[in-house]
Amino acid sequence: MAYQGISDFRSDTVTRPTPEMRRVMSNAPVGDDVHGDDPTVNRLQELSAEMTGKEAAIFVPSGTMGNTIALILGVGEGMEVIMEEKCHIFNYEAGNVSRLARSLPRILPSVDGAIPLERLESSIHTAMRVHCPPTRAICLENTHNLHGGTVLTPKYMQGVKELAERHNLHVHLDGARVFNAAVALGVPVAEIAVHVDTMMFCLSKGLCAPIGSMLVGDKDLIHEAISVRKYLGGAMRQAGIVAAAGILALQTMVERLAEDHERAARLARGLEGIPGIKVDMDTVQTNFVMLELEYMSAGEFLERLKEHQVWALPFSDRTIRFCTHNDINDADVDRAVDAIAAVTKEAAN
Ligand SMILES: Cc1ncc(COP(=O)(O)O)c(C=O)c1O
Repeated sequence: MAYQGISDFRSDTVTRPTPEMRRVMSNAPVGDDVHGDDPTVNRLQELSAEMTGKEAAIFVPSGTMGNTIALILGVGEGMEVIMEEKCHIFNYEAGNVSRLARSLPRILPSVDGAIPLERLESSIHTAMRVHCPPTRAICLENTHNLHGGTVLTPKYMQGVKELAERHNLHVHLDGARVFNAAVALGVPVAEIAVHVDTMMFCLSKGLCAPIGSMLVGDKDLIHEAISVRKYLGGAMRQAGIVAAAGILALQTMVERLAEDHERAARLARGLEGIPGIKVDMDTVQTNFVMLELEYMSAGEFLERLKEHQVWALPFSDRTIRFCTHNDINDADVDRAVDAIAAVTKEAAN
């Protein structure tokens, strides 16, 4: 449903809490979570651990903080962490790898977010090589944002986990949209999480909660995470007010993600055959559609789209991302297709 007349495809982060979320937020029992006695936060943490099949979970204000804590605990100062070249942690988290975890990112290319396993294994530095910082961890991203919402399969992740075990490495998953991956694969999220040591997932994206992410892992690591969250400034007091929306998100918004995926596919199909733009249909696997522009810069194209009350996000000079979410319906998708067709037609004339 267009919000204030705008069909806002920029991101699923623009979703607003549902009326039911606002209701449970206003009625949530709360306490001081720094003392561990907010019952709603505790319930959210238990539910998150249960759903992901992990021993424990910690509620954090953002996905970036969840990833940062995992890096601090899973990599360590002066150590190396292997990650994919277009991953969110390396590109969009303000340098947390080096500034806060004091670690070195080793960046490798991939096919749609999956670093080939042989390449991954041959890039590991063991402690024996005196000139190189030893590799301590591997980070994956599922779904993969910059690759257009592509999904890593459990089989691939299992391959990564097996090689990580051979080399005694920690595996962290940036699972900001891991529920989109689970829904697209038709598997419970635990079947993805089983292949990693720690996983961050966001409540505030397609699941529509207003604030918050979870970091899940084993009990000892999550216990240490409480102290790291504190020194990063992420310990919150009556956080149950926002955790209540997170519980509802996990209980009621996961299956709904399939509608977002159908709408992304509908948008991509609607764009087929429009001259001047290209969509790689193989990458339309979840709730993103990446559009490549042949004749116009992303900035100019988006300005023209705005005249049709359609908003999207520039990803590079010639690439635009459309994201479907709970505040986008079929009419918004049709409006976007018509607007894109009109703008490309104007450009050709
Ligand atoms: C793949 C991925 N990881 C992590 C994050 C960070 O989440 P937050 O904005 O809550 O810090 C995002 C946010 O868009 C993301 O897309």
